[in-house]
Amino acid sequence: MRHLKWTLLIAALWSTAAGYTYAANAGRAIYAAHCSACHGANGQGALPGTPNFSLQGGVLSLPDSVLLNRIENGYQAAGAPMPMPAKGGDPALTHEELTQVLGYIRANFGQKK
Ligand code: HEC
Repeated sequence: MRHLKWTLLIAALWSTAAGYTYAANAGRAIYAAHCSACHGANGQGALPGTPNFSLQGGVLSLPDSVLLNRIENGYQAAGAPMPMPAKGGDPALTHEELTQVLGYIRANFGQKK
């Protein structure tokens, strides 16, 4: 019985860690394929009008719900030179994948403090 508990605990921890690794890798691949052309490999913006994700108090200070809505449906601020295309221009991307890529952006480009 004692052993079973430990085995279950370790299995649960293992699958949680594996899940996070999967999500992080999936987000990274989606970013590279669908977002980095405009947002840059370093997240600081490769084209005019794209935000610098690592700016303190920048767009990443907005809540997930706002950012996900803008990623899914597209967004253009008043006077902005270029819109953020819905789903980065690929309608096949799912809500889950877009959630993963936002997690990747926050983890890699966001302020770490
Ligand atoms: C064709 C270029 C382009 C592609 C591809 C693109 N973006 Fe953007 N994105 C933009 C531009 C331009 C803005 C700024 C829009 C504005 O502020 O008016 C933006 C803004 C954003 C913002 C901030 C929204 C805000 O509140 O200002 C996030 C988050 C974002 N993009 C995520 C993504 C993700 C995730 C992908 C890939 C799935 C992606 N973008 C693909 C051009 C692009």
